Amino acid sequence: MARTGPVGVGFIGTGMISNTYLENLARFPDIDVIILGDLNVEAAKARAAQHGIRQWGTADDVLNHPDVEVVVNLTIPAVHAEVASKAIAAGKHVWTEKPISIDRQSGHDLLVQAEQAGLLVGVAPDTVLGPGMQSARRAIARGDIGEPLSAQTVMQYIGPDIFHPNPEFLFSRGAGPLFDIGPYYLTALVQLFGSVASVAAVGSTGRATRTIQAGDRAGTTFEVQVPTHVSAVARFVDGGVSQSVFSFDSPLTRMGYVEVTGTEGTMIIPDPNMFTGEVKITRAPAFSAIGDDPQWESVPITGVYAERGLGMLDLARAARTGGKPLASGELGFHVLDTLVAIDEAITEERVVAVRSRVDRVPSVTEDYAPFIATL
Ligand SMILES: NC(=O)c1ccc[n+]([C@@H]2O[C@H](COP(=O)([O-])OP(=O)(O)OC[C@H]3O[C@@H](n4cnc5c(N)ncnc54)[C@H](O)[C@@H]3O)[C@@H](O)[C@H]2O)c1
Repeated sequence: MARTGPVGVGFIGTGMISNTYLENLARFPDIDVIILGDLNVEAAKARAAQHGIRQWGTADDVLNHPDVEVVVNLTIPAVHAEVASKAIAAGKHVWTEKPISIDRQSGHDLLVQAEQAGLLVGVAPDTVLGPGMQSARRAIARGDIGEPLSAQTVMQYIGPDIFHPNPEFLFSRGAGPLFDIGPYYLTALVQLFGSVASVAAVGSTGRATRTIQAGDRAGTTFEVQVPTHVSAVARFVDGGVSQSVFSFDSPLTRMGYVEVTGTEGTMIIPDPNMFTGEVKITRAPAFSAIGDDPQWESVPITGVYAERGLGMLDLARAARTGGKPLASGELGFHVLDTLVAIDEAITEERVVAVRSRVDRVPSVTEDYAPFIATL
């Protein structure tokens, strides 16, 4: 018999970001978080107590739970595909944190496995489903900046060793600024321009070791295994080019810079790591002297504001009602393919073609209602 009522959810991985998910999912009546699991059962137990979740245990306890329909995979990137694959094998739909995997093959295999099992895979980020990006998309679709031609994005700061209590994974293969933060910016660019055709990039590592700055292990030094500064350019299949900086090496913080230039104007888009923000456009005047302040027009921000977890809710509803999640596995895979291609462009010093394609990502309807029970 088809299930009704809230979708049963189990978490695998109860580290830092699980807190945010648990706070936010509690506001969605269509979601019922049943059990939390982690390699570290004590961490799962503590997190469960903090959020009033009655059951906790290992990853297997989550996978074997008969009431869990969707697994939320909040483990570290190196095991995202492995954990997600086990969830699919256990008959569960999966929402996974980004990136979907750290190599193309396991990401691809996961999607094939899910397709064959008739199960859904959704991949973070879901920030791009927020009113900021969605309003920008609507403005571009209306022609507010004419034909989009190019974009530039900047994300630079000193790095997550400053705040994360266990930051080693963020400086290991499958992370660094490119794989850790790049998914936000590349997902935004793919939403705006469509599939990436090719990339070129250079990268560097500012410091060979880092020292943890926060938490119980502050003072611990560890090795950096990836480039901590990446400059990448991309060409899109349907036209348009972009240039991006992803850096954990900059004392000067610049976050969330996304500018899209079209034939009629340049649009500033909110930080793709956030759900909303200001969208504004400046248009070419008849003559603009260098140094003149640009004139800005604000774009109205519309759509529903719901923090991290919105994509997971959309996947859970799709699991019950049919259809595909907006933040789909295919989108997550194309972003991964692009990240890996950028990595290859750095190490092999060449332009790398991106072979996967993703259908145009559907937009969120303006009346989407996360806080109302629908199931
Ligand atoms: N921390 C953030 O601000 C943030 C923001 C957005 C997204 N994310 C993403 O969320 C994911 C988790 O990040 P985090 O900061 O919470 O990491 P974390 O290190 O704090 O937590 C990861 C948890 O996963 C558990 N784990 C690892 N392998 C496991 C396995 N095989 N089975 C079961 N449990 C396992 C660990 O024991 C740990 O408790 C990452 O992909 C990260 O990119 C983090």
